[in-house]
Amino acid sequence: MTSVPEPSLHAASPWWQKRPDGCLLIQGGPPLFGTYPISGAKNAVLPLMVAALVTPHLVTLHNVPASLDVAVLSNLLQRLGASLSWSQGSAGLSLTLCADRIQSAQVDAALVGRMRASVLLLGALVARCGAVRLPLPGGDAIGLRGIDFHLAGLCAMGATVTLEGGIIHAVAPRGLRGAEIRLPQPSVGATENLLIAAVLAEGTTVIGNAAREPEITDLAACLSAMGAAITGAGTDEVTVLGGRPLSGAVHAVMPDRIETGTIACAAALTDGAILLRHARVDLLGAAAPILAAAGVALSPREDGVMARRAPGGLSGVDIQTRPYPGFATDLQAPAMALLTAAAGASTVTETIFEQRFRHVDELRKMGAHIQVQRRTAFIRGVPRLSAARVTATDVRAAAALVLAGLGAAGTTTLEGLDHLDRGYDGMAEKLLACGATIARAPP
Ligand code: EPU
Repeated sequence: MTSVPEPSLHAASPWWQKRPDGCLLIQGGPPLFGTYPISGAKNAVLPLMVAALVTPHLVTLHNVPASLDVAVLSNLLQRLGASLSWSQGSAGLSLTLCADRIQSAQVDAALVGRMRASVLLLGALVARCGAVRLPLPGGDAIGLRGIDFHLAGLCAMGATVTLEGGIIHAVAPRGLRGAEIRLPQPSVGATENLLIAAVLAEGTTVIGNAAREPEITDLAACLSAMGAAITGAGTDEVTVLGGRPLSGAVHAVMPDRIETGTIACAAALTDGAILLRHARVDLLGAAAPILAAAGVALSPREDGVMARRAPGGLSGVDIQTRPYPGFATDLQAPAMALLTAAAGASTVTETIFEQRFRHVDELRKMGAHIQVQRRTAFIRGVPRLSAARVTATDVRAAAALVLAGLGAAGTTTLEGLDHLDRGYDGMAEKLLACGATIARAPP
């Protein structure tokens, strides 16, 4: 990966402080008690920031998570000509974007290579500027992660798209037009990309077999607040009446359902009790009853969700990842960390991404009993993991290894912290406030 000068990240997002390279030391054992504020969702805020490109008016996002991905996308948007201003208040970190002057020629290849969500710029920029050259996006190495659905959808809307030498070139000099599009499978990113593009396209777009993730509903809510006419978001058919005049909008980013599920597992694993402030159980979909069956008790409260270990203890369960409302693939690794310490046998089957078991070897280093056959991991719980030196290979693997470290005997050393910082706003610091013994250390 090409290294990007950090000062520019700081210029685009002044709250971003490059942390010294190093590792996380996690001393396992103590039960966690306290309040853990759930941040705005990483996978909601990124498309929301891109959505600000469809209007020349001000878009203000509240409850923005202070994560590395947000800093990288801020820098990308700034280089495209958007102006960004930040404030901190009762609604958390807020970002106001103004995209009155956008130049699609200014896409920064190194920054695009740092995150998958940069592919969302495609729809917004071709619709707004008539042409864009975008390097293939980067992101976690968890599978093939094609973008063919995105490209085919934009072609159906009248864009001419070519892919050469790792660069996507999309052109629509007379703008996009509405189209009937059916996704081969419910892709979150393709649904978001086409939804954003459809708002600027002339006429009606219907996205069939659309993804139903809550982040898409959140995106549609923000676009609707700008004046877009969208129906069906959150179902498998989204209809957009495009080409309407758009205003600005003020929108609060939804709470992060993946952080919610992950920290709920931390409470149960350590036999503590954590109030997940701002969390919503309903966003967890099928994960809520499955985690409950595994011994993660979740009680909704007015200010969030109380998470603790169920009186019967932790038990093995069978998990299959599925598009929403099925069990989220992003919760698969954290759930596996929990199940390594659950009584009995569990299976975890990953159906969304081909290579999302890279945390298994790391969990094994900590004494976990896991066998993998094709896309299924067979887990036999052990009373307790033991500390080891482990490395995170993607955002969710990082969170899983933090959990494993919190439950293990001894002091775990976690490397690859960029992955944790990409996806989470101060996870280590928030766990520290709940009584975890966790600290960053030099390499
Ligand atoms: N797919 C294609 N072609 C496409 C698009 C998708 O073959 O054009 C395939 C993918 O390879 C995958 C499946 O369809 O097998 C689903 O991928 P999807 O497009 O839904 O995923 P994504 O948009 O790339 C988002 C999240 C992921 C999350 C998935 C599934 C963001 C920025 N990323 O990715 O989040 O796992 O949806 O819910 O929203 C993470 O946060 O750690 C993360 C990887």
